[in-house]
Amino acid sequence: EQDILGKLPLKGKEVLITAGPTYEAIDPVRFIGNHSTGLMGIELAKCAAALGAKVNLILGPTSLQVSHSLITVHRVFSAKDMFQKVEELFPTCNIGIASAAVADYRPKTIATQKLKKSEADFTIELERTTDILKWMGEQKKDQVLVGFALETQNEEENAKQKLIKKNLDLIVLNSLNDPGAGFKSKTNKVSLINHKLEIKSFELKSKTEVAQDIFDAINLIKHD
Ligand code: CTP
Ligand code: CA
Repeated sequence: EQDILGKLPLKGKEVLITAGPTYEAIDPVRFIGNHSTGLMGIELAKCAAALGAKVNLILGPTSLQVSHSLITVHRVFSAKDMFQKVEELFPTCNIGIASAAVADYRPKTIATQKLKKSEADFTIELERTTDILKWMGEQKKDQVLVGFALETQNEEENAKQKLIKKNLDLIVLNSLNDPGAGFKSKTNKVSLINHKLEIKSFELKSKTEVAQDIFDAINLIKHD
């Protein structure tokens, strides 16, 4: 594609995006999951593609479909699958964005047969998954790295801590307290916090528009 008028600022760049939930198997028919649909990450992928980037979208289990010539969709199931794809694709990307709702814990063992009930109560032992974004922060060379923070209390402080702990350039704070924001909504209300800990809060808007605000903020980081 030609870019005579300079309208494709991400032409020649590679963007890696994680999106959607992860499912952690308990047995062949059951899993631990969450309510993420992946829509925010899909909108980010479309926005990056519209700006001319080549996009790798690592997408957890969702019924949403994505089709765009510049977007390669890698469908994954568990946090482990998602991490494997990130290990493969992060080193060559220019911008990494972790919007996935990754499970923090998974069942320590996966039963090979369907678990049968008995009269007794039942306990599942859980172990930690890899913090994929933290790994990206440790590997980061000259990539711009963006994370999300989903908080219900002490929101700004928790988000700033995540930005620092995971070596991010920008964090998108999602508040579950705002009506019209979060998992099941087509709209979102976010605050963006950059590496200088400057905060910008946005109105409730469509996830398409939120994606544009995020890329505007990434563009400012690249130029300072
Ligand atoms: N994340 C990740 N891998 C994980 C857990 C989280 O890549 N195993 C990423 C998410 O995609 C998000 C960011 O880390 O970009 C923050 O996720 P969040 O769940 O808000 O924070 P956690 O660090 O997991 O901490 P907690 O859930 O305890 O608040
Ligand atoms: Ca978490």
